[in-house]
Amino acid sequence: MPFRNRYTGLIDKYRDRLPVHDDTRVISLGEGNTPLIRLNNIPATLGRDVDIYVKYEGLNPTGSFKDRGMTMAVTKAVEEGSKAIICASTGNTSAAAAAYAARAGIAAFVLIPEGKIAMGKLAQAMIHGAVVIQIKGNFDAGMQIVKDVAAHAPVTIVNSINPYRLQGQKTAAFEIVEELGAAPDYHCLPVGNAGNITAHWMGYSEYHENGIVNNRPRMVGYQASGSAPFLRGHMVDNPETVATAIRIGHPQSWDKAWKVREESEGWFDECSDEEILAAQKQLTEKEGVFCEPASATSLAGAMRDIKSGKIPEGSKIVCTLTGNGLKDPETAIRQCENSGVMVTVEATMDAVKGAILDNME
Ligand code: F0G
Repeated sequence: MPFRNRYTGLIDKYRDRLPVHDDTRVISLGEGNTPLIRLNNIPATLGRDVDIYVKYEGLNPTGSFKDRGMTMAVTKAVEEGSKAIICASTGNTSAAAAAYAARAGIAAFVLIPEGKIAMGKLAQAMIHGAVVIQIKGNFDAGMQIVKDVAAHAPVTIVNSINPYRLQGQKTAAFEIVEELGAAPDYHCLPVGNAGNITAHWMGYSEYHENGIVNNRPRMVGYQASGSAPFLRGHMVDNPETVATAIRIGHPQSWDKAWKVREESEGWFDECSDEEILAAQKQLTEKEGVFCEPASATSLAGAMRDIKSGKIPEGSKIVCTLTGNGLKDPETAIRQCENSGVMVTVEATMDAVKGAILDNME
């Protein structure tokens, strides 16, 4: 019968690879199955013959890859009888937690760093009815408090230290392999807590061990220079970056991520805020893809490593775009100030015609 192929979310799709039972009540918003877009214009500007794909995770239901982990974490929390979830967040986790808790009919408590989360993310947490606790401190301080509180209150932590989160997130690697017919040569991601790079490696490795694919990519993690503990080789106490999503100095998956680097023969590197913003703008202007600043870190780093030859010609590269550009409209608008793309004129045909002719290339 036609029209039966309805996509109902990643737990239903990958049921046999995830820790759920036949009678588990699945809390889903139809997450996963995101576009893998081949870049048409940027590779030529690099002067190298490479294939770059972006995995547009910003098209998940709440606009970030967190939905992959949150559908699993909330499904399991509900299965285990939990009535409330809690997380610390730079914004996206709080948005996903708030939405999936609403879907499940349970409470969500989210700790966010005051003044340091993008407007769209704050709006999401609030409108879904989470209790938003702003702290006068950064993500790392919030994470510590969440761990302490959860030991004393009946709440389930849904940060990526919750193992179900990584189980859900590994499915992004499955999708990429299925679409490309093999693993890429390189997979580049922005790194904050390093949960996502760890989850992707789990996914690739699972398909490899099961003989579904016979290669695995080198995993490359890029951090913002002001928040780059993996580059410094130690925790960073006062992380800073315009990419607030990855403004993290004490990554929760520290040991796991070093292992990923070693096993995959990949590397970590850093990008300046200027490089991150330039990559975000290039992607919007040259490819029509709008991601948030943190997400552009993967492409910023990859472009540099392609130009230098560290990523060789002939390579197939996937860059994960972790979050939607609409999450952070303020940074996007700031990027375009003084660029001449907005002009104000009288409401007449002549004035508008003048504006068009003045701005024709
Ligand atoms: N990109 C975006 C848009 C994110 O929101 C995050 C993490 C990352 C990358 C880094 O992923 O932590 O697995 O290495 N955001 C978390 C949050 C910390 O609270 O939303 P990671």
